Amino acid sequence: MKKDTLLVHKGRSPGDNHGIVNPPVYHASTVISPTLAEFEAKDRKAFEGVQYGRTGTPTTFALEEAVTALYGGHKTVSLSSGLAAVSVSMLAMLKQGDHALVADNVYGPTRVRTCDGLLRRSGVDVTYFDPAQGIGGLLKPETRVVFFESPGSLTFEMLDVPAIAAVAHDAGAVVLMDNTWATPLFFRALDHGVDIVIEAATKYIGGHADVMLGVVTVSTEEQFQQIKWTANALGNCPGPDDCYLGLRGLRTLSVRLERHQRNALKVAEWLQARPEVDRVLYPALPDDPGHDLWKRDFTGASGLFGVVLKDVSKDAVAKMLDGMDLFAMGASWGGYESLMIPTDPGRYRSASEWPPAGPSLRLHIGLEDLDDLIEDLEKGLGRLTSA
Ligand SMILES: Cc1ncc(COP(=O)(O)O)c(C=O)c1O
Repeated sequence: MKKDTLLVHKGRSPGDNHGIVNPPVYHASTVISPTLAEFEAKDRKAFEGVQYGRTGTPTTFALEEAVTALYGGHKTVSLSSGLAAVSVSMLAMLKQGDHALVADNVYGPTRVRTCDGLLRRSGVDVTYFDPAQGIGGLLKPETRVVFFESPGSLTFEMLDVPAIAAVAHDAGAVVLMDNTWATPLFFRALDHGVDIVIEAATKYIGGHADVMLGVVTVSTEEQFQQIKWTANALGNCPGPDDCYLGLRGLRTLSVRLERHQRNALKVAEWLQARPEVDRVLYPALPDDPGHDLWKRDFTGASGLFGVVLKDVSKDAVAKMLDGMDLFAMGASWGGYESLMIPTDPGRYRSASEWPPAGPSLRLHIGLEDLDDLIEDLEKGLGRLTSA
């Protein structure tokens, strides 16, 4: 089945549910066993079927089945947020004395909380690598994990995923990728050498700014057991309503992404031509440094990109942002609405330079009418120079 058909048909079974189109939302902690034999058998099953609320209900499994099919993976583990999906996966694959290579441009909390915090506190050695250089020369005998996003958060540089994965595999390391930007619709990461693909389903899968959810799709049963064990040990599980909303979001992911992409490309091109703008960071633009890699490996671009303004004061940026009518200022992205926040892409980088430049912004282009979005931006840019 093709992706659009999988989106509509996976993770639901009306024939088992009175003909009702969507799966029911199971709210559960206790799961009762009718006999002692079944009660005892349940304990021996390694994360199979319904055992206890924390390890998942049919609602959780429905979401996981659909995501697994979209990525063409072995199994999926769902978690209570995107960051939980990152942290649980990293903790599951690494132990004291191991080494991890992490791209310099990953999502801030992945770097600061998961890698610098949890991993280093657990005795894992972390090295950041320059996304433009790859991992050659940085591997150690203890390297077990290579982790990246492509494009990277805030700066949107593309990585050569198959090349990095090949080097990592030669060294016996497992490749983890946060694929939240592209989703399986625009990049089937497991087909390009990635072993474990992570997504903050809070973003495009949920799609309506009302879900906290993460998903991790693995290639092998061993990886599944490691990640599920760690999730369970940490007591991490998504709520049933969020799983349901994640699954409901999936049904329209393709049509939403199509519009996000169309609007984003138009807005990015329009911004490129503006005198207030220094650079637009979006690999779908033909003159973006990552465009060739994006075109080679990806089948589309989502609605999130960066903008570097020409040098203006903070007061001017505040005037622009404070007065926006349609672009709201808020964390997260991937919902139906447009967002714009200031960013500081050089703040955490240690392995690569992000040259000093004017103020940077991150835009998420929503599903609004394109002309209205551009009008809002035009007025906003006007406030920059009138400040
Ligand atoms: C690339 C990326 N990964 C992970 C996350 C974390 O997701 P969540 O907010 O669900 O924890 C985010 C959130 O902004 C993100 O942008």
